[in-house]
Amino acid sequence: MVFENIITEVKGKVGIITLNRPKALNALNSALISELNAALNAYEADPNIGAIILTGNEKAFAAGADIREMKDKTFDEVTSKNFLHDWDHINTITKPIIAAVSGFALGGGFEYALLSDIIIASETAKFSLPETTIGVIPGLGGTQRLAQAIGKSKAMEMILTGRMIDSSEAERAGIVARVVPTEKLQEEALVLATKIASLSQPVIKAAKKAVLSAYEMPMAQGAVNERTLFHSMFKLHDQKEGMAAFLEKRPPKFENR
Ligand code: CAA
Repeated sequence: MVFENIITEVKGKVGIITLNRPKALNALNSALISELNAALNAYEADPNIGAIILTGNEKAFAAGADIREMKDKTFDEVTSKNFLHDWDHINTITKPIIAAVSGFALGGGFEYALLSDIIIASETAKFSLPETTIGVIPGLGGTQRLAQAIGKSKAMEMILTGRMIDSSEAERAGIVARVVPTEKLQEEALVLATKIASLSQPVIKAAKKAVLSAYEMPMAQGAVNERTLFHSMFKLHDQKEGMAAFLEKRPPKFENR
């Protein structure tokens, strides 16, 4: 596939998507989103891919939805066309997604990082939901996911003021899994994604699904869901192989089945 707003690259079992509108700090427009969705679908369908990295460049992961594209939209247009309806297609991807964030992750860009499964950040990463400062509110789940990630008070403070936080504050607040030196970000993201992709894909998908249910269901239902998924692992060749390999003191050979 040929893309104009993203770059795709496969390294081993890892599919990488690099947002590529550097002149607009990777602002997200509809063309970029359809390319992103197509690339995500291609990696989701590819049995050789076990994990996905979503990244940008050193200056920006993404500085939000494209304000130029949004500015003149009318209420009728955004409601009749359900603006943003295909922007969270990333939610349907069952393989793990790592957001590797350097520079600005603002508005929709931050929301995309929050829609990913793991965020690792460079020392220069900056996060904010500045929508209220340009006359709107977050529209891609930011109010919900940030509040869940860091609690009401800090989420309110960030959203009601648009304050930008740096990577250390983001790490302290629990937004990011890890902060790494800027020049090491892509390498560290690849090491992490490669580790995940070396495990059994059905097991990893079940683990992702179980963790996500903590955000989607009440605790009691989530725990039942987890137990059902846990039981279903015993249908897998990879469960037998993983446990046999442990007892035989050898590395497992997973076959994704
Ligand atoms: N949309 C469109 N263009 C953008 C953009 C955006 N979100 N963010 C940056 N750009 C463009 C700028 O217009 C500028 O283009 P020109 O050179 O053609 O003027 C170029 O990128 C470089 O930006 P700056 O000159 O502003 O760079 P800076 O280093 O001085 O500032 C910044 C960087 C602080 C990130 C600043 O660009 C900024 O505040 N950007 C907007 C951030 C924002 O408000 N994002 C939220 C968007 S709303 C949203 O995302 C809705 C939603 O929930 C889905």
